[in-house]
Amino acid sequence: VPQVTRLPDATLIHRYDRIAAQLSELYAKTRDPQARMASASALLHHKMPHFFWTGFYRLEGGDLVVGPYQGPIACMVLERRKGVCWAAVDRAEPVLVPDVHAFPGHIACDSRSRSEVVVPVRDATGTIVGVLDVDSDKREAFSAAEVEGLMKVAALIYAES
Ligand code: SME
Repeated sequence: VPQVTRLPDATLIHRYDRIAAQLSELYAKTRDPQARMASASALLHHKMPHFFWTGFYRLEGGDLVVGPYQGPIACMVLERRKGVCWAAVDRAEPVLVPDVHAFPGHIACDSRSRSEVVVPVRDATGTIVGVLDVDSDKREAFSAAEVEGLMKVAALIYAES
């Protein structure tokens, strides 16, 4: 049984459509990835009340280094090949974790995190260059519709306009 009442999928999908439209408008101003990540994390965090931490980790010299984010202070560099963010990079696909306590090797940057979604961020050539990570302080806060929405947002970071 989920610990939270999730937004209905239709509401969530509609909200992601609006977020994507607003980001596309903002992204016409610059292709700078960090400016885009900063705007995405701010917009998502303020439009999604169930997000406790919202942000990016970037692959830099073989490490996942924290990028733009909103929420409590987070780990600067993630221990290699451990945790949910690394799982998304290593599997090259989104990872949905309904209960982080049941995920072997989960990295607790903040002990209040209970569930999590991480989606890979790819550059224009399709190479994974980082991840978009959202955490909730409730168990089972995220559905498959959430993963779909976050993938759309991640795809915009390196989109042409
Ligand atoms: N939980 C993540 C680490 C990042 S933060 O929670 C912000 C992980 O296991 O990779």
